[in-house]
Parts: sequence; C-alpha cells; structure tokens
Amino acid sequence: MFAIAIDGPAGAGKSSVAKAAAKALGFTYVDTGALYRTIALYMLENHICLEDSAAVVAALPDVEIALEYGPEGQRTLLGGRDVSQAIRTQEVSMAASKWVAHVPEVRRFLVGLQRELAQKAHVVMDGRDIGTVILPEAQLKVFLTASPEARARRRTLQLEEAGEPADFDQVLREVVQRDQQDMDQLAKRAPDVVELDTTGLGFSQVVETLTGLARERIMEYNKEKR
Ligand code: DC
Repeated sequence: MFAIAIDGPAGAGKSSVAKAAAKALGFTYVDTGALYRTIALYMLENHICLEDSAAVVAALPDVEIALEYGPEGQRTLLGGRDVSQAIRTQEVSMAASKWVAHVPEVRRFLVGLQRELAQKAHVVMDGRDIGTVILPEAQLKVFLTASPEARARRRTLQLEEAGEPADFDQVLREVVQRDQQDMDQLAKRAPDVVELDTTGLGFSQVVETLTGLARERIMEYNKEKR
C-alpha cells in the first residue's frame, strides 16, 4: 500500500488539502484528529474529569471507536453512533488538544487502529505524528505549515461559512494557544519530511503541489516494485 502522511499544526489546512489530494489520487482520506476528538467526547459525555489522566486511562477500554469510509468520506462512530458532527464543537476541540492528546496511553491505544487503516487502502492520513510514529514507512511525508495569522484567517472564514461568525483576534489567540498546547509537544518533523509552507498560497496551489509530489513518488514506487 502507498501511504501519504501529512502532519502539521492546527489550522494549516491539513484536512481540506489532504481530503482534496486523496480525492484527486483515488486514495482514502483518514482524519486521525477525529479519533482524539471522539475520546474527548466520550470523556465529556460520561463526566470523566479530563484533568485526571488516570480516570481517562481507566475509561479507555470502554471507548468503542470505528472509522468508516464511503462516498461521503470518513464517518466516525462511537459505540456504533455516528459522532462525525458532534466531535466538531469548540468544547471537544479544546478537550482533545489540551488533555486527551497528551496522555501517552491514549496515543498508544490509537496506534493499531491507524496502522490497520493504512494496511487496507492507499491513504492520505493527516495528524501530528503520522510520519514519525504511526507510519514511519510512509512513502511520502509532508509537514504543512502556515503563519498563525494565515491560519487564523482561514479558521475565521470557515467559522463564518459554517454560520458561526467569529472575531479574528479571538481566533488568532486560540490558534496561538493551541500551538502551545499541541505543536511543540506533538507535531514533529520526520527526518525525510517535505516541508510545505502554505502562507500566501491558494488552496488549489497547495493541493497541486501535494498531488504533484505524490505522483512523482508513486511512479518511483511502482518502478521499484517492478
Ligand atoms: O486535527 P484536529 O484538530 O482534528 O485534532 C484534534 C486534536 O487531536 C488536536 O488538538 C491534536 C490531536 N491530534 C493528535 O495529537 N495526533 C493526531 N495524529 C491527530 C490529532
């Protein structure tokens, strides 16, 4: 199987770029953030104190997560219930980024599931540790970055489009806060990663650059296999 790992900070455009590139390449797009968000949702719904990592770890065996793929893309299931929308709230986002993602047992709990997905299909997988921990053998590893201002601008637009008008300065503060919670500790660059700074690039330019890189690697990979 051919795997493309896309890592980088929140708001660098990873998910929309990865999704579009996967579609262009005929690959499955795997959004791994959904897994951390689903665990956060479970803890919130079951009133498990997120600050108490021992309680979070104790509850993990009861968290039944599944990812499904269809024409609509990825569906996230928690105990068989579709939580694809429910995991997108700001509350879940903060809970995942501030607490859940930092618990080593949570990260270990999710390794097998992510690796299995990459064994079943050609994937574009996005996250923070895909190229370093989950799929260190990925044939293409990309680290997407963008300035905090560019990321906050994109996020503000997204929220407006979703009918949740947002204040740019507030969003920028949240972006910086999430970087501190998230990036320093979590998003790491693999040694053989291609860094792509998307500040000032349009969405389609980023997707074209990524798919171009992928097509080159796929050709090399097919040659090596022959
Ligand atoms: O990409 P996202 O915003 O949906 O991710 C939600 C949180 O999950 C994010 O704060 C960091 C964490 N995460 C992670 O630690 N490792 C991943 N592979 C993906 C996400």
